Amino acid sequence: MFSDCLIETDRLILRPFTMNDVSEFHEIITREEVVRYLAEGLISLEELRKILEWLIDCYDRNSPRSIIKFTLAVTHKKTNKIIGWCGLGPLEFSPSEIEIYYGLSVDHWGRGLATEAAKALLDYGFSTIGLDTIVAVVKPDNVASRKVIEKLGMKQTKVVENLPPGSEFYEGMLYYSLDRTEYFAAVDKQ
Ligand SMILES: CC(C)(COP(=O)(O)OP(=O)(O)OC[C@H]1O[C@@H](n2cnc3c(N)ncnc32)[C@H](O)[C@@H]1OP(=O)(O)O)[C@@H](O)C(=O)NCCC(=O)NCCS
Repeated sequence: MFSDCLIETDRLILRPFTMNDVSEFHEIITREEVVRYLAEGLISLEELRKILEWLIDCYDRNSPRSIIKFTLAVTHKKTNKIIGWCGLGPLEFSPSEIEIYYGLSVDHWGRGLATEAAKALLDYGFSTIGLDTIVAVVKPDNVASRKVIEKLGMKQTKVVENLPPGSEFYEGMLYYSLDRTEYFAAVDKQ
């Protein structure tokens, strides 16, 4: 499921990637500032092509009980261009948990767009997919991302530590979570 997913917000449309997006997406992630906090780091166009092929293949293989990777293109309604990505997928060092992640092109930072995209995907995760809990992890000095996570209503419950070899990238990250009861209680109050 999820291959026909289309999420609309005031300014954005979140939709599945296609192979036609590869160059536009690559332009966004060739900026050092954008990949600074991401495990993948800078990647070539060819590497991105392979990743996109895999992400597209995942759309039909994902199911509510087993999300392999669910990454959407974030497009701006005004231009129809891709301005970033936003997704849900297993936490690398604890794959039974589903994390939310996102990133935007530098020239779209600071306008509330990441929060707008992530809020919409969070709602899709709880309301449409029916997830019980969604988590997020962030490097302590990634202040912009921490703010986004906090604006989603997520609560920091621990610091990630004592990970096995191979997961060092995540050591020291702040771990946030939100469960569906808390989410819907907050939505009801609004
Ligand atoms: C994280 C990211 C997606 C945020 O995008 P964005 O569209 O600028 O986010 P928003 O505008 O919705 O919210 C960012 C908030 O952080 C604040 N902020 C941004 N940089 C900040 C800084 N250096 N110090 C303090 N606050 C900062 C903004 O003012 C805003 O808060 P506000 O709504 O209270 O004013 C963007 O910086 C990005 O793509 N980073 C690289 C990829 C990444 O790190 N992804 C997350 C991995 S966990």
